Amino acid sequence: MKITVIGAGNVGATSAMRLLEAGLSDIVLLDIAQGIAKGKAEDLMDAASLIGHGRKITGTSDYCDTQGSDIIVITAGFARKPGMAREELLDKNSSVIRSVVKGFKEFNDEPIVIVVTNPLDIMTFLVYKESKIDSRKVFGMAGCLDSSRMNLMVERALNKPLQEIDSLVLGTHGETMAPILSHSKVDGLNLTDIANDGDIAQVIAKTKSRGAEIVSYLGTGSAFYAPSAGVFRMVRAVVEDTQEILPCSCFLKGEYGFNDIYLGVPAQIGAGGIEDIIELPINDNEKKLLGAAADSTRNQISGLKL
Ligand code: LAC
Repeated sequence: MKITVIGAGNVGATSAMRLLEAGLSDIVLLDIAQGIAKGKAEDLMDAASLIGHGRKITGTSDYCDTQGSDIIVITAGFARKPGMAREELLDKNSSVIRSVVKGFKEFNDEPIVIVVTNPLDIMTFLVYKESKIDSRKVFGMAGCLDSSRMNLMVERALNKPLQEIDSLVLGTHGETMAPILSHSKVDGLNLTDIANDGDIAQVIAKTKSRGAEIVSYLGTGSAFYAPSAGVFRMVRAVVEDTQEILPCSCFLKGEYGFNDIYLGVPAQIGAGGIEDIIELPINDNEKKLLGAAADSTRNQISGLKL
């Protein structure tokens, strides 16, 4: 197994650390900024005997070192600044994504590609179109992050143990994020049966703005511990062929009534990438939320020069 992480900023380097220290695979960390990937990779290697894993990480700025990767995680790109929406990164990050795809395609035919760069659903679509890799092997990390954030907001609202909370967020990783209440559970019960409307409205609002909230605390850069945890869960599902169901941004071919866009939906993940897209029964309101998410994604895609 060979995993490459492209982009050695906070999300990329922390993802690499999680994957390396869990012993999932050897890692290549690539950044076009000379020295950054090498410095972080060597620093991580210095910790190997303290942490006690036997894996290696190599830092590079040369795409030839990515040759033969089984999985490529793309984190390269600009993060938003306080007050910005993820959607505002579209222009700048589409040029980054195009050069990343050109770089790795020269040395890799059909790797599994997990995209983290924002605006997530659009950048994942762009990687798919530019790389021409099978859509089941190109998907985006967001739904598991947003669902994990919602779990925490439910815990804080209801004071229930986190491990008993199982929230589901679909749609875009953006302004049209779609919390799916009919499949969000606490202690096996429906969230809507045990929380009042005020609490639920607050949970939804806080979940949607959570990324921006973290950006506002940090001042520069955006969240990376939780996003890298999302990357870790998705990569592990592929490496260990767990076949677990995680919400992620997938290319839709009629599922949920949508075509030719990437949108957050529940997917079964295994060695082949997206093994299956799970079509849950959702209510009319949730269908509307997904419809709005699809419209917003389509609008932004139309701004891409393909
Ligand atoms: C966030 C960024 C990574 O949600 O999109 O924090």
